[in-house]
Amino acid sequence: MANTILIGAQWGDEGKGKIIDVLTAKADIVVRSQGGNNAGHTVIHRGIKYVLHLIPSGILRRGKTYGLLKLGITIGRNLLISDCAHLVLPYHRLLDEQRELRQGRAKIGTTKRGIGPAYGDKAARTGLRMSDLMQPIVFSKKLQAKMFENNRILQALGAKSISFREVNESYLAAGEKLRPFVANTVVFLHRALQRDKEILFEGAQGTFLDIDHGTYPYVTSSNTTAGGACTGTGVPPHRMDRVVGVMKAYTTRVGEGALPTEDLRLTQMFHNLGREFGATTGRKRRCGWFDAVATRYATMINGIDELAITNLDGLDDVDPIRICVAYRINGKRLDVPPCDAAQLANCEPVYEDLPGWSRSTHSARKSSQLPLAAREYVKCISKLTGAKLSMISVGPARGETIIL
Ligand code: GDP
Ligand code: IMO
Ligand code: MG
Repeated sequence: MANTILIGAQWGDEGKGKIIDVLTAKADIVVRSQGGNNAGHTVIHRGIKYVLHLIPSGILRRGKTYGLLKLGITIGRNLLISDCAHLVLPYHRLLDEQRELRQGRAKIGTTKRGIGPAYGDKAARTGLRMSDLMQPIVFSKKLQAKMFENNRILQALGAKSISFREVNESYLAAGEKLRPFVANTVVFLHRALQRDKEILFEGAQGTFLDIDHGTYPYVTSSNTTAGGACTGTGVPPHRMDRVVGVMKAYTTRVGEGALPTEDLRLTQMFHNLGREFGATTGRKRRCGWFDAVATRYATMINGIDELAITNLDGLDDVDPIRICVAYRINGKRLDVPPCDAAQLANCEPVYEDLPGWSRSTHSARKSSQLPLAAREYVKCISKLTGAKLSMISVGPARGETIIL
């Protein structure tokens, strides 16, 4: 299957975990290279539902090696953690919380996992990394300085300060547990490439949550687009063979920020069916129609070669089905999303309606078993986004997949 970057083509929660689990069968190594435990990737394995936040999805399959840049739990000899991975510390979480609180209505709606402040320290060159944690004396000294500074900030914000001793002890203890897994993962991956191993790069979040290309400032703090796989892992672009973009057959978003095709009736319908609740925070996802303007742009930014459409079954009882083919703002038609958040919020979608199929797609395993209207719908999505369709998912489990 060659070296594959898998990314979310929308606002996250596209069903990446499910598609990664399908693709993992052919991969030797699965790598997470950005983000943190703000992610929540759902995999159904032997009838049991697992939500993976930090460990690469597909860990449930045997004989795979997993490298990732931040870690919460230990697993076995098949796990590696980069020594360059940044640590999320308790003050990051508290700062995340405080900043959100103080923003009031202008908040981002973060997962409150401390991701923004941790990436902030990384960019400010004051972050603590796995390599620091592997040297207890160095770690404690750096931590003490960081805690001194951050406790003052927390106090100024009216929050409680935190105990250096407690954080130091718990992190050093965790560091000892993680020590066997910490390695130079750049070298590991390059050796694997020399031996023609196949690597799957598991993107977290989605294109429009990218710090540079997303709906800034309503984004996460990492590069969630395809390039992030190269910078995060140290595997150069010319060693990447293909990019798979995952998208839902409609659109969802958790947290604040514009969602041009948001539709309250569609949202209500999904929630009534027990669908579209966040895998990390349990928050209700906002739902809307398929947005070709956004997904076409995602195809461009990521260089999506193949598209995997998930949750097609979610539209089984919807008729007609709307597709946003352009935006309209101040009487002008737009074919790409504007950079400015306020402008995006003022964009009106231009819709085309397609007939629904009013039949279950759940048991389809071949494209020919899908209702004609469903086939027309996915064909239309592929045409509008300009990417080749390679997979259609009609249920959360591994087998509920049509490979084209
Ligand atoms: P991720 O963050 O991109 O991995 O996506 P999440 O796991 O957060 O959210 C996707 C949700 O859709 C999960 O509950 C999946 O189990 C579910 N899912 C994925 N593909 C399908 C599908 O084709 N049909 C249905 N019904 N559910 C799906
Ligand atoms: P997966 O990998 C959906 C959203 C948050 C918020 C914004 C910033 O499961 O697709 P953060 O905590 O990262 O600072 O929050 O990004 N967000 C996600 N939305 N899926 C995710 O991950 C997300 N990770 C972050 O809701 O709007
Ligand atoms: Mg998710």
